[in-house]
Amino acid sequence: MSTDPKVLQEIEELRRQINYHSYRYNTLDQPEISDYDYDLLFNRLKELEALHPDLVTSDSPTQRVGNKLSEKFRKVRHPAPILSLANGFGSQATLDWYDRIARLDRRVLKTDFLLEPKLDGLTIVLTYENGLFTLGATRGDGIVGEDITENLKTLPTIPLRIPIKQGVHVPDHIVFRGESIITKSDFEKLNREMEANGQKPYLNPRNTAAGSLRQLNPAITAQRPLKLYLYQIVESSEPLPPTQEAILDYIASFGLPVNPLRWKAATIQEAVEICEAQATNRHSWAYDADGVVIKINDHQLYEDLGIVGKDPRGALAYKYPGEEVETTLLDIQVNVGRTGVLTPLAVLEPVAIGGVIVRQATLHNFDFIAEKDIRVGDRVLVKRAGEVIPYIVAALPEKRDNSQVPYTPPTNCPSCGAPVEQDKGMVAWYCINASCPAQLKRNIEHFVSRGAMDIIGLGEQIVKQLVDANLIRSTADLYRLRESDLLGLDKFGPKKARNLVEAIQASKTQSLSRLITALGIRGVGEVAAEKLSETFHDLDALSYATTEELQMVEGVGQIMAEDIQAWFKEADNKELLETFRQLGLWPVSNPPEKEGEQPLEGLNFVVTGTLPTLSREQAEELIREYGGKVVGSVSKKTDYLVLGENPGSKHTKAFQLGIPILSEEDLKRLIAGD
Ligand code: IVH
Repeated sequence: MSTDPKVLQEIEELRRQINYHSYRYNTLDQPEISDYDYDLLFNRLKELEALHPDLVTSDSPTQRVGNKLSEKFRKVRHPAPILSLANGFGSQATLDWYDRIARLDRRVLKTDFLLEPKLDGLTIVLTYENGLFTLGATRGDGIVGEDITENLKTLPTIPLRIPIKQGVHVPDHIVFRGESIITKSDFEKLNREMEANGQKPYLNPRNTAAGSLRQLNPAITAQRPLKLYLYQIVESSEPLPPTQEAILDYIASFGLPVNPLRWKAATIQEAVEICEAQATNRHSWAYDADGVVIKINDHQLYEDLGIVGKDPRGALAYKYPGEEVETTLLDIQVNVGRTGVLTPLAVLEPVAIGGVIVRQATLHNFDFIAEKDIRVGDRVLVKRAGEVIPYIVAALPEKRDNSQVPYTPPTNCPSCGAPVEQDKGMVAWYCINASCPAQLKRNIEHFVSRGAMDIIGLGEQIVKQLVDANLIRSTADLYRLRESDLLGLDKFGPKKARNLVEAIQASKTQSLSRLITALGIRGVGEVAAEKLSETFHDLDALSYATTEELQMVEGVGQIMAEDIQAWFKEADNKELLETFRQLGLWPVSNPPEKEGEQPLEGLNFVVTGTLPTLSREQAEELIREYGGKVVGSVSKKTDYLVLGENPGSKHTKAFQLGIPILSEEDLKRLIAGD
């Protein structure tokens, strides 16, 4: 069926207008039409595309909803290394840098500099082929990043096609680098919304930006107020403009976002003066910035200066120290973590640090409080340095009014009241009650979190309700929840109850690596879990692994290997796994790549009787997985009989034929190779 050319023309015109107005609104912050008129254009386009689905193109503004990803992000190799930046603290470090490069190349003495705010966000790399946005990646290790195209497509300031303005020439192939950020005011607003919904506020804009872009569901990314500024061309099929200043203008000419804030300095002295002046002024910027980047403006010279390690010689980050402010310590709260560790948390009189309102700060541990003699009611110094959580630097004892008394750490768990203990020679205090409700809550919060089972709708507030109402005593109990259990809880209607139960049940299909993360084994984060799931194809295989086998996995050291084994040895955990299995929460990953011979290769097994921990099916499955063959009846060809309690005639037969007999334990040893 051919479409009326007029329709195609209208669609193309609508897309052009929408892209232009979105650019005016989102990138330039200078809208030319009302939101209402914009919506009219957008809705008309949607209507036409619905009528003519064959005319929908990947770069249509209606296609910003990114596709959901199934598991992890694809790895992508960058066309050129995405370099880092050398740091200099203060003016002397900057002058030293200048001397070094001036000695290398006399042209440095005559160059000018371009200065830009050093944005504190997540580096991203955008590729455009023939004007079409084809790939968006994280920096990763600078050589290989992760493909987050679907998420980046949801950012309104990233054009799906460039140029925005007609008549601008764009190279066939061009790769940009920039930084994705969340402004301070957007961050505050986001946190107010989180709090209003009973969710835990985010810690800082940087982590929130990074986390938002590494969502497997772009619909979540789309809800986050992400912005971005580009500042570098990594690769282009055409020559670049001669200076960094001209490169920024060139990037902007395509309709891509660049930071309007920048300074030109004719000499290094001038550059240093600008950096010094911005030390306080930077707090008025819309976003967090922990420094100013000084760049050699002459692009050829910048390139010719080359690289040291991972840093280009031609640029330096002039870094500012973290900012300190004074406020009052209102209270010291004690949190009980997943493993029972007690951590003190400072509750502060809210105070703005670098434009972000800080209400809490870490106090590290109880020794720290004692050493610094920090007391409730004290005036304290709080520091926030870019990406880290604010922390208390010191108390100001001269400002005491005698009402402050030295702090005594709790002797009992603030949640369950059980006595607390300290491991010899360690700083941390633990609540040793295995059924402490606070530990259970943290455990469940971790289990359902985004990087783990990712159960949406199970926030901190609901976890609290479930534990307090005694509806769950372990993570496995989540899967036994019925709608009727939830209806009695505050703010739970039938719809919310149904959604939650469905979300929990749906998480049974999560990958093995997510379940391993969710178990909360000490030291085992998402990356290690992923690697473990590549080697051990289910939780059984992981639980049988020897320390040596575990340490063969990339990133697993001796301590982690021992912690993994200790976790699987724990009786409560064994029981938990058994329940997961019965509940059908038993993901498997692809079987390990068969390298060389399998331990049971070429051997025939018969299984009989009741084994201590494995069911017959599990034992058989285990044998097959490691290359063995399972047969139904004993014969001369049988190599081993795996024997449990109350066996039948198979045992007698095997005995008569002199076939070696294995216990479950022996079988596992055979698999492990000893
Ligand atoms: S230039 C090879 N300019 O800071 C050129 N970097 O701590 C090096 N950053 O990894 C990058 N704002 O991600 C440059 N205006 C800016 C920047 C900037 C933030 C980031 C960048 C870099 C990190 C180094």
